[in-house]
Amino acid sequence: MALYSEKVMDHFMHPRNVGSIEDASGIGEVGNAKCGDIMKIYLKIVDDIIWDVKFETFGCGSAIASSSMATEMILGKSIHEAMALTNKAVAEALDGLPAHKMHCSVLAEEAIKNALKDYFDKNNIPYDPADFPELDHDELHDAVHGED
Ligand code: FES
Repeated sequence: MALYSEKVMDHFMHPRNVGSIEDASGIGEVGNAKCGDIMKIYLKIVDDIIWDVKFETFGCGSAIASSSMATEMILGKSIHEAMALTNKAVAEALDGLPAHKMHCSVLAEEAIKNALKDYFDKNNIPYDPADFPELDHDELHDAVHGED
């Protein structure tokens, strides 16, 4: 069986929504210090709807495919639906990721949440901080790859 699904390969080779948004409503950036991958998400939000979303990802193929799929999944959706997006849903939509690559999809969930948090902060919109737990990416990476 191939290591990566056709969908992963498709989103890696032809990523959707690559780029940046100049007048973004919210920007989220996350990184994994261990593998060095960085993901940045830009959101344009109008009337609680994600009107536009773009990403810049400097990282592995799974991180690029996850960013591409995650942006497709939240485009045109409400901010509440975007908040509910999980890395598992992104991985499932990609027809799965190898176990040692699941942490790459976590970056996508985190970057979108950070961008939403940035939007809430900029607009003085109250939110529950518990919705934005600080994930330790180093720990996640170690859990999957072991300490090095
Ligand atoms: Fe680190 Fe994919 S995000 S290896």
